[in-house]
Amino acid sequence: MKQNYGVSKWPDIEEINAKMDKLLKADMLHIKADAKARYMDYFDTKCQRSKEIITEARQFIPGGVQHNLAFNYPFPLAVDRAEGAYLYDVDGNRYVDYLQAGGPTLLGSNYKAVTDKVIEVIQKHGAVTGLFHEYELKLAKIINECMPWVEQYRCFGSGTEACMAAIRVARTFTGKKKVIKMGGAYHGWSDQLVYSLHIPYTKTFEAHGIPKECVANTTECAPGDIDSLRKVLEENEKDGGTACFILEAFGPESGTRMMPFDYCAQARELCDEFDTLLIFDEVVTAFRIGPGGAAGFLGVKPDLTVMGKIVSGGFPMAGGVGGRADIMSCMAAGVQSGKQRAYVGGTLTANPLSCAAGYYAIKEIVEQDAARKAGENADKLCAGLQALIDKYELPFVVWNTGSIIHFEVSGVMYLSVQDPEIVTKITERKKSMEEFGAALTANGVITLAGSRMYTSMADNDETVAETLTAFEEVFSNVER
Ligand SMILES: Cc1ncc(COP(=O)(O)O)c(C=O)c1O
Repeated sequence: MKQNYGVSKWPDIEEINAKMDKLLKADMLHIKADAKARYMDYFDTKCQRSKEIITEARQFIPGGVQHNLAFNYPFPLAVDRAEGAYLYDVDGNRYVDYLQAGGPTLLGSNYKAVTDKVIEVIQKHGAVTGLFHEYELKLAKIINECMPWVEQYRCFGSGTEACMAAIRVARTFTGKKKVIKMGGAYHGWSDQLVYSLHIPYTKTFEAHGIPKECVANTTECAPGDIDSLRKVLEENEKDGGTACFILEAFGPESGTRMMPFDYCAQARELCDEFDTLLIFDEVVTAFRIGPGGAAGFLGVKPDLTVMGKIVSGGFPMAGGVGGRADIMSCMAAGVQSGKQRAYVGGTLTANPLSCAAGYYAIKEIVEQDAARKAGENADKLCAGLQALIDKYELPFVVWNTGSIIHFEVSGVMYLSVQDPEIVTKITERKKSMEEFGAALTANGVITLAGSRMYTSMADNDETVAETLTAFEEVFSNVER
């Protein structure tokens, strides 16, 4: 496919859906009791320092960790350092790392050329100034070179903030209030977007502490179904119209629910027809898919693009919104605030540290052709995993879009809200996924909660072989 992009082929969606149907109908598979006992023993004997730290942390930090990604079964590991393709915990155990900080470290963790530059910048300029720094311009310019449709760029502190700002500016620009998101997608934890997370049409299932009124203007369409989008746009017309449609261009949850290749092109046309802004949430896909992100790969120009983690190369303060200059200029700060200005901000949102980190990380990603290399590593790993699934005749499903690998042992996000037993099934299937995650960890491989895996440029034939050995050990211990 496209040069400098990591996606070598678009997955066969019908095949994935058929396999997921089968997985959901099949009996849940578990790991044999003796193997499970061995894996748990690994945590008890080889991760003692982690256990001590996390036990104490539970007293001072809710649940012991600060972010869901770190909440791993049977207990979270305390990590000492991340280096290239590996993570090392405080007990000195080494793991092949497919969490990659939740996606941003496409170059591999602690990539020296970027880290050295960041240290130099902090020593020379200080981490923050509170005022404008030239690295803010350098970052905006390099993003624009990679994604010419991002004519102007505003920094924020996280993907959540960036999604909030994108929606606010869309409403300011269009004068409309309704927002459409795709069912099952995660766009951060803001009041308006904690709606139908993970499983479509679950609406306010997870919106505890959020009054109903906050999501009164949030509407939802079915993943990958263009007719559903049209229907919601038409419905919203009766109540003032839709300000924006926000989606991950490869589908919800980094493409856990894959979409037809031409979905985004069709969504672009529909948004134009209804005078609705198209927002791509590229928190995971920007640069990881290739220099132009998912939009560049698909050849579809969004009006606004949301960025996260990777836009500061995994360093703190990771988020931003960019897009058409006429829309972006509706943001207050820099342009006079007041009427027709969306009030957004944040004291430390732009600073020399994160802007320099982002600038040098993006520069390296492009110069090193990181998206293509990471994608090739994922292709090899995915092919190996499929061969193991076939060898052990397991119902598990694996596919990848470039360096994003989906590995489903339970299919929890494919459950239907119409299933009367959905609540029980979510608990059971989540538990099974966590068990597999723990089994892989005990065998030296870290995944995102036992399902997704992000490869990086730092992977190689050795890490792929090491990973396949770990998977084979676990697969050979599945109870039949
Ligand atoms: C697609 C997507 N959007 C938004 C967010 C929120 O970003 P943050 O965690 O930086 O707030 C995430 C986080 O994982 C994400 O994956």
